[in-house]
Amino acid sequence: TADRPVFAQVFPGGRPDYRAFFITLRRIIAHKTMKTDFLVIGSGAAGLSFALKAAAHGHVTIVTKGEMNECNTNYAQGGICSVTYAPDTFEKHIRDTLVCGAGKCDEAAVELVVKRAPELIRDLIAWGTKFDKTPDGRFELNREGGHTEHRILHHEDLTGAEIERALITSVRKHPNITVLEHHFAIDLLTQHHLGEFVTRHTRGLACFGAYVLNLESNEIETVLAKFTVVAAGGCGNVYSSTTNPSVATGDGIAMCHRAKAITENMEFIQFHPTSLYHPAEKPNFLITEAMRGYGAILRLQNGEEFMDKYHPMKSLAPRDVVARAIYREMTKRGSDFVYLDVTHKDPDAIRSHFPNIYEKCLSIGIDITRQYIPVVPCAHYLCGGIKVDLDACTSIRRLYAVGECSCTGLHGGNRLASNSLIEAVVYADAAARHSLAHVDEYDFNTAVPAWNDEGTLSNEEKVLIAQDAKEVGQIMSNYVGIVRSDLRLKRAWTRLDLLYEETEELFKRVKATRDICELRNMINVGYLITRQAIERKESRGLHYTIDYPKHAYNYK
Ligand code: FAD
Ligand code: SIN
Repeated sequence: TADRPVFAQVFPGGRPDYRAFFITLRRIIAHKTMKTDFLVIGSGAAGLSFALKAAAHGHVTIVTKGEMNECNTNYAQGGICSVTYAPDTFEKHIRDTLVCGAGKCDEAAVELVVKRAPELIRDLIAWGTKFDKTPDGRFELNREGGHTEHRILHHEDLTGAEIERALITSVRKHPNITVLEHHFAIDLLTQHHLGEFVTRHTRGLACFGAYVLNLESNEIETVLAKFTVVAAGGCGNVYSSTTNPSVATGDGIAMCHRAKAITENMEFIQFHPTSLYHPAEKPNFLITEAMRGYGAILRLQNGEEFMDKYHPMKSLAPRDVVARAIYREMTKRGSDFVYLDVTHKDPDAIRSHFPNIYEKCLSIGIDITRQYIPVVPCAHYLCGGIKVDLDACTSIRRLYAVGECSCTGLHGGNRLASNSLIEAVVYADAAARHSLAHVDEYDFNTAVPAWNDEGTLSNEEKVLIAQDAKEVGQIMSNYVGIVRSDLRLKRAWTRLDLLYEETEELFKRVKATRDICELRNMINVGYLITRQAIERKESRGLHYTIDYPKHAYNYK
């Protein structure tokens, strides 16, 4: 239990109330508190690579809400960027990232990631990741939209799954790492939980760990930590169609926002131009951009090419340009998809480069060596998130954010393809270095009380949660999607506000469960995206509004 004097916890007013005494005593006895040097929330590339580095110096506990490999990392297809061979150079990778970022990148962050990438790739290889090689033993490099060189290391079209496999194997073997699967982090612990009034500007605001819901016992446990690392991934499920698996509900961002950490660039949601059009399926299956890098061409339903009207790089233009072009052509024609055509390439080569996509399409009756692939844009990646500095420190002491939930400034207004896996491992490394240099300065804050859910009931209104989650997706997709306007954003804001009020009211009355916590988080994240979109009075990068149609930044 929390080590606060029991008397103070059961008689907070100082006067005996014996009914309250027994109820609270039972709660305290049943309550479980854990202590760990490093608490990591999330088991994707960011969380696992941090854990492997920190575990050399202290005990690491990873909590993850599903099985370990349920994460965006496991779905990554195209690959991971790193300057590997001439004629590529750091300068070219930096320039491509800055151009794609639409004038909003933090140049120091770009330089850090690009220059640290080769060393972090070596770490991934040392942990067991296998990247594809050509017959002469050199790494085979892909190219995707916005890249002027081939610089994407990959493992077939299953790069993320290979990285995740290697990291999980290393983590499982490490004696200093405890993994708690099916553990859902609900909220971060700060001075707020000690009864202090805190704001985003409170000096000395610090994180002491998290309240975590054990999804098997349904108990809420306290995990006290010297450092907490939020590596909880993206928020694709805030939209009704996404490439992200169902775990990507923006929990880390919402948790940090509630704890009063700063978030930024939330309006820059990246829509991937080419997910497979197969309406019955969730998440949307991705058709990697590497296929366009390999020569695949976008076509209208009548077979015509159209990207030459939009950008000199045609089908390989930056992602936001391609997604908007497809959206425009679909809206103009009232069609639900366009086609991606790779049929002019050698069938054996297609099968060997894209075995996963080939099999998937075949399973729904499309032989991509002979037939066009129907594709549609959908929500894919969050460029913004929890604001961090070059050491991955958030605005709250003892709290780091790494990976997709963080905003390092690398991506600016639009992410260059395949720059996110490398960002995750570079910043996990930075967080590990920074925390290891400070770990001896802190102790556990044992004054944190146990989670208090006295008086709450189990939720008999599941239908409300499912319906509200669907509504969040519809609001965000229709009003805060690829094309926005002041009116649409205002409408989203009003609708989300109502959902927020109703959900917070329900949350106070019912026992915390995964579904209500996720709903709260999605509403929170939807609100942040909408608010920051309203504040941006221009079209830039991924944020396009018809009220400011002239782009503040021109890629050409
Ligand atoms: P994730 O890998 O998503 O991990 C987040 C973890 O947090 C998960 O384990 C989740 O269960 C856990 N979690 C979340 N909330 C909680 C909670 N409340 N409590 C406990 N645990 C929680 N990027 C590239 O660079 N190259 C690519 O080729 C590429 N392809 C992609 C293809 C697809 C289909 C998708 C979806 C993404 C792709 N990306 C790609 C993006 C990239 O995969 C992600 O940005 C990156 O993997 C994020 O890693 P992460 O560790 O930050 O998050
Ligand atoms: C893809 O393979 O197209 C996805 C790459 C990315 O999102 O970085």
